[in-house]
Amino acid sequence: MTNGTEGFFKVCRESDLKEKAGRRFIVNDVDIALFKVEGNIYALNNMCIHQKAAIIYDGFIEENLITCPAHGWQFDLKTGKVPGGVKGLDVYEVKIIDGNVYAKVYPKKFEW
Ligand code: FES
Repeated sequence: MTNGTEGFFKVCRESDLKEKAGRRFIVNDVDIALFKVEGNIYALNNMCIHQKAAIIYDGFIEENLITCPAHGWQFDLKTGKVPGGVKGLDVYEVKIIDGNVYAKVYPKKFEW
């Protein structure tokens, strides 16, 4: 691809996302969760690092944190990290082009 979209994958239409309601997609063989919050779109790995539940997309949003619905672990939407911690979820760069959402999804880097 050109226009600085190297490594990006088309995920969905921006209009497919509702404010603070996560959605799950499989992109480049990776399970990801997308969130729209106050006009920004965030893409994170969908697999919680606590017990490997693939339910981050179903979590709830409080300010800049996503809370896993299973046991309440929280992750920063921008960095994927647990508050004050170094571990967390992989996060993916997002671009909006012509109303389409693209995410730079890479295979999982870390195993905790
Ligand atoms: S699986 Fe997410 S907090 Fe336990």
